[in-house]
Amino acid sequence: MENKISAKETLRSSAKFNRPATAVVTGASSGFGAAIAQALARDFGYDLILTGRREDRLETLAAELQETYGIQVHCKAFDIRDRSAVEAAFSGIDRQLRHPLRILVNNAGLAAGLSTIDEGNIDDWDVMIDTNLKGLLYVTRTLLPSIKGSGNGHIVNIGSTAGKNMYRNGNVYAATKSAVDALNQAMRIDLLPYGIKVTAVHPGAAETEFSLVRFKGDAERAKAVYEGFTPLAAEDVAQTVAYCLSLPDHVCINDLVITCTTQANSFYNVKAADLKQS
Ligand SMILES: NC(=O)c1ccc[n+]([C@@H]2O[C@H](COP(=O)([O-])OP(=O)(O)OC[C@H]3O[C@@H](n4cnc5c(N)ncnc54)[C@H](OP(=O)(O)O)[C@@H]3O)[C@@H](O)[C@H]2O)c1
Repeated sequence: MENKISAKETLRSSAKFNRPATAVVTGASSGFGAAIAQALARDFGYDLILTGRREDRLETLAAELQETYGIQVHCKAFDIRDRSAVEAAFSGIDRQLRHPLRILVNNAGLAAGLSTIDEGNIDDWDVMIDTNLKGLLYVTRTLLPSIKGSGNGHIVNIGSTAGKNMYRNGNVYAATKSAVDALNQAMRIDLLPYGIKVTAVHPGAAETEFSLVRFKGDAERAKAVYEGFTPLAAEDVAQTVAYCLSLPDHVCINDLVITCTTQANSFYNVKAADLKQS
């Protein structure tokens, strides 16, 4: 009970944006998406629509956020690669909501495998293209009528430093994230007349389930990716997204790269052992 009251007080004191709204966060069952959902509930008190395939995780997070912040949370479990499932999940969505659907965070995505182009697994390529690119498009196209109708929409696309600089073995993953970068710019232009903000956030190395997924459950290989330096945490990215969403109506961050302090881009990341003292 005490917890509940203090959480609500925190919400009241830190609310940066008091206009009631609903936000959709894709890929909210883990990593950045789950942390972004937490931040939007905590800092803004937004109602939420959480998506992902692992329904049990979405339901657990939804229950926690509803209980702590008194918001309404809808869970939509579907595979983002399935166009008809995306359309069905959001069919008649506006009638289910208390507040206008104003915010979309396109976060769901993954890397599958790590190999040179000549040795690439074509099934992995299909999964990445279908999820990171086509899935993002399906959700965006399906929700745009609602976002346009809200009057002051904001779409945040989660790209990657991989989309800014290609790296060895990263080929198709990097290409999908370059495409997210390109689409972000295109959306910004096309949606200008509707007053919709469009923001890309491109994180560098962050410790989530990302590497576990990339290496298909090989926990040791996934852990090794983050050895010798302090990577971003999901909460770092969530706070950055929340900051972009907190700005006044006339201000839009179009493109933002965030890395941990030791990383400059996809190639250069100084391990702690190599840091110079002076
Ligand atoms: N971690 C990093 O180093 C890093 C850096 C830059 C960019 N990114 C990007 O950040 C985003 C989030 O990644 P993360 O690091 O938070 O990884 P994560 O912990 O593995 O989370 C990925 C999320 O995407 C969802 N997802 C994946 N495939 C899906 C599908 N077919 N249908 C529906 N949902 C799907 C997952 O949900 P289900 O499995 O429940 O479906 C999960 O919620 C991704 O776009 C990733 O490319 C990550």
